[in-house]
Amino acid sequence: MRQAGEIGNSLKMVFRNHPENERIVRTTAAVFVSILDPTLEEISDFKTAVSEAVTNAIIHAYPETGGDIEAYFKRENRKITVIITDYGVGIKDVKKSMQPLYTTLHTQERSGMGFTFMEAFSDEITVKSEPGKGTSVKLIKTMGKGEECGEDL
Ligand SMILES: Nc1ncnc2c1ncn2[C@@H]1O[C@H](COP(=O)(O)OP(=O)(O)OP(=O)(O)O)[C@@H](O)[C@H]1O
Ligand SMILES: [Mg+2]
Repeated sequence: MRQAGEIGNSLKMVFRNHPENERIVRTTAAVFVSILDPTLEEISDFKTAVSEAVTNAIIHAYPETGGDIEAYFKRENRKITVIITDYGVGIKDVKKSMQPLYTTLHTQERSGMGFTFMEAFSDEITVKSEPGKGTSVKLIKTMGKGEECGEDL
């Protein structure tokens, strides 16, 4: 039931660190914001940012074991918050890991640009991580063409 004064929506997914799930979460992210009638550019930027955060959790968080990852989406008027959380190995030096071209996985596919894209394609990014405990990446982006006037979307 809708609470009085509530504007917006939220959605939480829990998924395995399987590569197939990147596409599922990226597509869900696009559907979640579609009610805001975003431009193609907005939707593409948003999907890229979410995809990079999810890919990182899938690829880096559980190098030796399987593990669960959570994706939380919240919409308040036109402001979208996404939090991707894992309970994996964590990051020793978050500041360093966010520098362009920094990667700990020196394979052909990795260029160390994931955090740089997340920063470029969202309004705000907050990364919290503790070695051995896991990582959470919060992305905030306001999108959609309408006026920010508290309309009940
Ligand atoms: N969820 C995570 N758990 C553990 N380590 C992470 C996580 N996310 C990022 N990292 C660390 O931060 C580094 C930088 O991440 P970033 O996404 O910028 O680059 P990348 O994933 O290595 O390469 P690319 O994203 O370009 O494919 C990673 O190489 C990894 O060491
Ligand atoms: Mg990455």
